[in-house]
Amino acid sequence: MRLLWAEADEIWNEYHEREGFGGYVSADFVEVYQALLGLQDQVDTVLEWGSGLGVVTIMASRLGFQAYGVEVEPILVEHAEELAERYGPDAKFATGSFIPDDYQWGAELPGNPSRTETDSRAAYDELDMQLDDFDLVYAYPWPDEHGLYLDILRNHSGNSTLFLSYDAREGVSLARIESDTEES
Ligand SMILES: C[S@@+](CC[C@H](N)C(=O)[O-])C[C@H]1O[C@@H](n2cnc3c(N)ncnc32)[C@H](O)[C@@H]1O
Repeated sequence: MRLLWAEADEIWNEYHEREGFGGYVSADFVEVYQALLGLQDQVDTVLEWGSGLGVVTIMASRLGFQAYGVEVEPILVEHAEELAERYGPDAKFATGSFIPDDYQWGAELPGNPSRTETDSRAAYDELDMQLDDFDLVYAYPWPDEHGLYLDILRNHSGNSTLFLSYDAREGVSLARIESDTEES
């Protein structure tokens, strides 16, 4: 994994000022890796929302999950696919939004999705999967976007889907998505 992390860092150092990298900030990969390790007996299918350079999806694939990533920036998907060729060829990526096309935006936004792209078509058809096909969704939302992410999951994920999220201050946390979400 260390080679993968180092190569992702190199890509970031070289290209971060280019178009398409503006919304990309990487999580602490070690923390996310450890969280995924602890979930190996509990879930099968993993979806990374906003997969950026694809590192979490590739790690999940290497750990034996069926792992998918969706990312709205085509250049990031290209880099992710190149990394996957070397470090996790079973990882699958699609370009587009993680927000389902039929997500009902209410009059009041659940949170403030200032960093999440809200106008692009969803990527699920390209994966030939739907959101409720996944046992675990991983994302790194900004703190004020957490509510939106949970609202999408409550409305479109399967019953008992797990939501693994990363926050720069809080680290990783795991929630089970049901009608009443329980933090664990
Ligand atoms: C904070 S970065 C997280 C990168 C990676 N998941 C991680 O944890 O290291 C958020 C990523 O989400 C992407 N993104 C923003 N809105 C999106 C959307 N609606 N659908 C798919 N990707 C989106 C951004 O381009 C960016 O790469």
